[in-house]
Amino acid sequence: MELEDLDAVQAIEDAAQLTPWSTSHFRDCLNNANYLCQVVVGHDDEPVAFLILSRILDETHVLNVAVAPARQRRGIARMMLVKAMDDARQDAMTVMYLEVRESNAGAQTLYRQLGFEVCGVRKNYYRKGDGHENAVLMQCLLSGGHK
Ligand SMILES: CC(C)(COP(=O)(O)OP(=O)(O)OC[C@H]1O[C@@H](n2cnc3c(N)ncnc32)[C@H](O)[C@@H]1OP(=O)(O)O)[C@@H](O)C(=O)NCCC(=O)NCCS
Repeated sequence: MELEDLDAVQAIEDAAQLTPWSTSHFRDCLNNANYLCQVVVGHDDEPVAFLILSRILDETHVLNVAVAPARQRRGIARMMLVKAMDDARQDAMTVMYLEVRESNAGAQTLYRQLGFEVCGVRKNYYRKGDGHENAVLMQCLLSGGHK
């Protein structure tokens, strides 16, 4: 991901997420040396998906992942995450974490397929309408390999 991708990344975020990040949030990630910000581009070189990870010691955390609605269910998120897990293993990371909305059954299915397991709940972690929604915390031990 480069600065010039931010308009396209923001458009994907706005279309895909219930409570989208702001562009300054993405810009901060790009400026943080401990964050990995990646895009997948289509034939026209425009981003169709992105993945943002942080790395601290031997832990990798998925901070954000989204695929443009018109490009979903084609294996793009799976491909991005498999590559991120392989890269993390190569860099001696031992565990990957992520949070996902309790209601986001599709994403949870994908994460389970990749070897993630539920390891906790963060109460009222997300905004949802006027209220809040819990996050399911999932982890994947990277030494075990993905399925
Ligand atoms: C979640 C998300 C990133 C998945 O991206 P994707 O590229 O569509 O996912 P993939 O095509 O790689 O899915 C792989 C498998 O995961 C499961 N899966 C993914 N999305 C699903 C859905 N909406 N419903 C049910 N299963 C789903 C399926 O088993 C799928 O395989 P299949 O299509 O052969 O059945 C995408 O739906 C998205 O951007 N959602 C909005 C943002 C979001 O929820 N991000 C995750 C926050 S934690």
